[in-house]
Amino acid sequence: MLNLKDILNGISSESKKMEWGNMKITIAKELDKTQDVLFLGLFEEDKDNGKSFSKELAEEVEEAMTRKAFSRKFGDIYGAKFSHSYKKVAVVGLGEKKDFSVEKVRQALGKMVTTTKGWSFSSFCTNVVEKVKTGADAELLGRAAAEGLLLANYNFNKYLAKDKQEKKKPLSMVSLQWNGGNDFSEGLKVGRVVVEATNWVRDLVNEPANVVNSEYMEKMAKQVASQYGSVKLKVLNKAELEKEGMGSLLGVNAGSQNPPKLLVLEYTGSKKGKYTAFLGKGITFDSGGYNLKPTKYIEDMKTDMAGAAAVMAAVKVAAELKIKKNLLGVMPLCENMVDATAQHPGDIVRAYNGKTIEIGNTDAEGRLVLCDALAYTEAKYAPEVMIDLATLTGACVVALGYYAAGVMGTDTELLGKLKDAGEVSGDRVWELPFFEEYQDWMDGSISDLNNISTKGKGYEAGSITAGVFLAKFVEKAKWAHVDIAGSAYWMVDGAYLSKGATGSGVRLLSYYLMGNQEKE
Ligand code: BES
Ligand code: ZN
Ligand code: ZN
Repeated sequence: MLNLKDILNGISSESKKMEWGNMKITIAKELDKTQDVLFLGLFEEDKDNGKSFSKELAEEVEEAMTRKAFSRKFGDIYGAKFSHSYKKVAVVGLGEKKDFSVEKVRQALGKMVTTTKGWSFSSFCTNVVEKVKTGADAELLGRAAAEGLLLANYNFNKYLAKDKQEKKKPLSMVSLQWNGGNDFSEGLKVGRVVVEATNWVRDLVNEPANVVNSEYMEKMAKQVASQYGSVKLKVLNKAELEKEGMGSLLGVNAGSQNPPKLLVLEYTGSKKGKYTAFLGKGITFDSGGYNLKPTKYIEDMKTDMAGAAAVMAAVKVAAELKIKKNLLGVMPLCENMVDATAQHPGDIVRAYNGKTIEIGNTDAEGRLVLCDALAYTEAKYAPEVMIDLATLTGACVVALGYYAAGVMGTDTELLGKLKDAGEVSGDRVWELPFFEEYQDWMDGSISDLNNISTKGKGYEAGSITAGVFLAKFVEKAKWAHVDIAGSAYWMVDGAYLSKGATGSGVRLLSYYLMGNQEKE
């Protein structure tokens, strides 16, 4: 389990006032009357409807309930006319007590942030975390509170004119009523570290492909390595990739003006223990190559490096929290473009481990860069665990949509740990079966493998067959593959994540790391 004393060394748990990025979060015993908005939480079981705060408020809320302008169902918010000393007072439905969870804390606080922004106010206070503290793990509650608030306060406005930016201004302050122990504020600090890394990934993924290319990603990785003494960066450029024989990765980049790169961030957090390797797909733009993507599918393909960005951020979190584990962040970076030099459908390439691959489809390129990265990482570092994150298949978006990443592999213990980390962090994964019957569906006819399925109609179980391909490049390590194609980039707003990049995978990997440290 997470040892708070270890990861928080240097930070005083006495400090009650913390400033994080653009939002200040304060903990106070009482509701803070100096904030713009007050949000009072109401469970369905709460019959007083805010009476303990004010009789007039309770009367207005009851009246609103009879005309169905408010229910106590989870997420329902009613802005009262009654205002007390605040600019606005609102009640927030928390649903039934038995259904409440830390994820609901993220959602409720996230909704308060977006509602306050919508009312053009810049701060609020709430009793919600105080209200739900019984029975909850205060440290997890703190993490969730920071995550809900700071993820919801994120925006990507930098390319908008100043006056438009003003209209979408983030909140400046939130005051949380809390009368419990210090674990809560310690959780807030951990949550802050995780969210800052997550919002950094959101920036990297939202930035267009004319900004974020392999060199830009290298610059970011260099920053991480120079910021922490515990992190080293190894860069493999084209000549080294050629020397190492990463023909599969090189084939993907053949049509690009940007250089291919393989970045390895090495974090040393423990005197013992083998490496855990996180590997992330880093396609800075996926045009599909000669199997060109059509309109409606090509436009968002700047997001195809979300796996690499999440992996880089997870290394940053590990270094910041001084996680006791030795960790690798491996990022194969390429751009999948069309050009006279690009690879053709039907080409055969040779991967790092010697296997030959026929390019059945140039758009199935993620697996082609990851397979070299997996085989190389295992050969050079012999990690105990390898977890790859990739915006790998449209089939995963079809199967699961936005609210979970697909996960598969053969090590049930590792899959269980990832499922737990996903559940607690709200960055969920959903297991897809890895049936024996599929294990030869990627076999080639004139080569060892094909990069698309060679059985049936070719598209069945597309996410699973992509995983099957990757599995051929792992020998001894415990391995899991996380397909974040749907979860990394949303077309709709959520309770605390907005349309656009979500930073999917950062909370998942961070929580996984916190829960799986070396015992020294
Ligand atoms: N980057 C895409 C997958 C993707 C789709 C990510 C939608 C995010 C949103 C990937 O490289 C791809 O194109 N996969 C193909 C594979 C197929 C050709 C076997 C796909 O899913 O269509
Ligand atoms: Zn593709
Ligand atoms: Zn892709």
